Amino acid sequence: MAPINPSISAQELQILSTKAIEAKASAYCPYSKFRVGACILTTSGEFVVGANVENAAYPVGTCAERVAFGTAVVAGHKDFKALAVATDIRPAASPCGMCRQFIREFTSPSFPVYMYDVDGSYVVKTMDELLPDSFGPDNLPH
Ligand code: THU
Repeated sequence: MAPINPSISAQELQILSTKAIEAKASAYCPYSKFRVGACILTTSGEFVVGANVENAAYPVGTCAERVAFGTAVVAGHKDFKALAVATDIRPAASPCGMCRQFIREFTSPSFPVYMYDVDGSYVVKTMDELLPDSFGPDNLPH
C-alpha cells in the first residue's frame, strides 16, 4: 500500500511495517499476553524498534511506543518521520493516551502514525488527529 504522507516512501513504509510487526516477538507481556511492536523512522533514515515490557507490579509496565521513542532519543535521535505500531488484533490498536503525549514531545502535528492489525492492514492518523489541542515544549515559557 502506498503511504498517504509524501514524506515517507513506499519502500520506507514497507521496512517500517515489517520491523514493527517483527518487534512483537520481542514483547515481554506475560500478564496481558497482548504483544505490541513499534518502529520509528528517523529523519536520518534509521529504524528504531520497541515492544511492550510489562512488570509484576502492573502499572510499572511500559508500552512499545515509549520504549521505541526512549531508545531512539537516548541513541541521539531527535527528529522523526513516522511511527508504526503493530498488534495481534483487528481493527488495529492505537497508542494509549500516555504514549500520545510522550510521542507528541518529539513530533509535529502532521507526524504520521501507522497502526497495523493482525493481518498487516493499516490505518494511519496524524499526531494532531490522535492528540488535538495538545500541550508541548513550545507551551512552556523559556
Ligand atoms: N500497550 C502498548 O504497548 N501500546 C499501546 O498502544 C497500547 C497498550 C501495551 C501495554 C500492555 O503491556 C499491553 O499492551 C496491554 O495493555
